[in-house]
Amino acid sequence: MSAYLLFAQDKQVPFPDNWEKLNLVEEGEITKGNPLYAIVPGLHRTYLNDVAYEHFKKYIKDYKAGKEAPSFPEGSLIVFVNFEDKKGQKPRLILVMRKDKGYNQAGGWGWEGFKADRSRIAREPDKDCANCHYKGAKDWDGAFFTHYKE
Ligand code: HEC
Repeated sequence: MSAYLLFAQDKQVPFPDNWEKLNLVEEGEITKGNPLYAIVPGLHRTYLNDVAYEHFKKYIKDYKAGKEAPSFPEGSLIVFVNFEDKKGQKPRLILVMRKDKGYNQAGGWGWEGFKADRSRIAREPDKDCANCHYKGAKDWDGAFFTHYKE
């Protein structure tokens, strides 16, 4: 059956095979006491594909200065990798935001979380992930980039 005949919500965000080759923009550690500790403890790195990276470089300065920054363009890919070890060699979870209206999910992103073995971790990623990314303090287009370096 052609993919075009599937309903939008049946389309699943694919595993980002090439995440290690994307543009590394942030590295951080989630320690005890951080609400995210239960989900992604320890080291993480965030990667952007070229579409997202160009947009990020263009607007991050303005964004951090409190100015309005445009939403990320279609085709943007953000990958957050949480590691088991301190050196960042053993990925534990791979969290994905992929800008594609076709997924028909929150913010125009497709949301998906994978274990290192590529199994999917969220039953309803559009809710399980996006609810948290859009609640409380509004960050840049659903992504928490306020603390990122320019
Ligand atoms: C309880 C709240 C919460 C939930 C649930 C959550 N996230 Fe996040 N996510 C965050 C926060 C906070 C950060 C920023 C962490 C940092 O950089 O220190 C983040 C970071 C990210 C990033 C890197 C870009 C960014 O926004 O900084 C991606 C991609 C991401 N999450 C995707 C997902 C996906 C996919 C899921 C569901 C499987 C998910 N998240 C579930 C709160 C959450």
